[in-house]
Amino acid sequence: MAVEDARALARAAKCFCYKRSTDRNVRARDLRWWRLAGDPHCVSDIGPRGPGGSTITASSAPPKRSDFLSFSPPTIGEEEIREVVDTLRSRWISTGPKTKRFEDEFAAFLRAPGALALNSCTAALHTALKTLGIGPGDEVITTPMTFTASVNVIEHVGARPVLVDVEPDTLNIDPRKVEAAITAHTRAILPVHYGGHPADLDPLRASARAHGLGIVEDAAHALPACYKGRPIGSEGNPVAFSFYATKNLTTGEGGMLTAEPEFLARARVISLHGMSRDAWKRYDEGGSWFYEVLVPGFKYNMTDIQAALGLWQLRKLRQFQARRRAVVSEYDRAFADEPALERPVTRPDVEHAWHLYVLRLRDDALMIGRDRFIQELADRNIGTSVHFIPIHIHPYYRDKYGYTPGSFPVAYDNYRRMLSLPLNPGLTDRDVGDVIEAVLDVVRTYRA
Ligand SMILES: Cc1ncc(COP(=O)(O)O)c(C=O)c1O
Repeated sequence: MAVEDARALARAAKCFCYKRSTDRNVRARDLRWWRLAGDPHCVSDIGPRGPGGSTITASSAPPKRSDFLSFSPPTIGEEEIREVVDTLRSRWISTGPKTKRFEDEFAAFLRAPGALALNSCTAALHTALKTLGIGPGDEVITTPMTFTASVNVIEHVGARPVLVDVEPDTLNIDPRKVEAAITAHTRAILPVHYGGHPADLDPLRASARAHGLGIVEDAAHALPACYKGRPIGSEGNPVAFSFYATKNLTTGEGGMLTAEPEFLARARVISLHGMSRDAWKRYDEGGSWFYEVLVPGFKYNMTDIQAALGLWQLRKLRQFQARRRAVVSEYDRAFADEPALERPVTRPDVEHAWHLYVLRLRDDALMIGRDRFIQELADRNIGTSVHFIPIHIHPYYRDKYGYTPGSFPVAYDNYRRMLSLPLNPGLTDRDVGDVIEAVLDVVRTYRA
């Protein structure tokens, strides 16, 4: 008998024995209770427990690919490497001509009115809020379903982040809840295009217009994405992109702020020590040693080494996206008929950037929680991640604003049953097949 067949038989036998020895309904109910009785912040943190607290284990080693499939390695080619080397051999390694070219090409790609290259999306968000003059006494409405950077920057400018819950399908900020949260102190709305699916911008824009608010979009995941036929970043309000190592386009670390040129001119000053215009040129021929500090700014500029990567990554972006979409189609097809899995949705009026492929587990259909599911995939050599631990359960925000997990029930309920599968242009057909096989094997092994 082949080794794989023997393993499959052993697994099936183990599951069969376990199923026979307990009443299925009682066991499923108890498992849910055991999970709920654990960490009040994360029911799925509690692995599946058998009676008396013993951990349920699969009987044999699961089928496993030979090497570990990383969740999201960068896709860097020889062109990027050559461009970086060319930069290192040139006279400019910090902000210089390649950064300028990257800004121009990025703006052209998105049909944005202008672009400012910075050293992270966090820097772009922070700079945007500062440029809008948001500070102490102000409120900025945002989502709990995001990376902490989106909310930290609001704290950094001394304003109050006001969280509102997300929509259950896209996990993007819920525009009706935004409208309800607006007060006399609200200055801006900061939507995050979760996973690459654009937030519902029209009602947010209507609220912003009605109340005189700014909109600063966190598009860390949304390159390239479209909302109602218009690229995210093309409208003229401040939009922040991330080029972190896992992103659809990477410069190692890096970010871009798109906005109207007049706004960007002020943002540029704030992002580079508050020094007067074109400060980065002060060492070049024709540059001047003289500058004035207009505000106490930050040190957020992108370097030409980063821009060298970005120039080629941008040229390859359409090709990268085609591969991302092909992988998504494969995942969608493979999981379509599996009742234990909820697939990501795409609303009809958007183009998804497919930064993330987030599966949600259906509690009632499985004997194990999300954390154990992730461990089972890791045991099969498949790397995954979770996007995101909602902001309101992180100790800083929980304690400062007195949140409980139930303060934002949609975000919390989805958090505890979500996981992100590998999705990047470097995935081979074999990799995709391995992910699908591993996910379906875990589901089959632990079906409730
Ligand atoms: C939604 C979101 N916003 C902001 C950021 C921060 O991006 P950066 O690391 O470029 O500052 C991230 C990073 O992963 C993110 O996922």
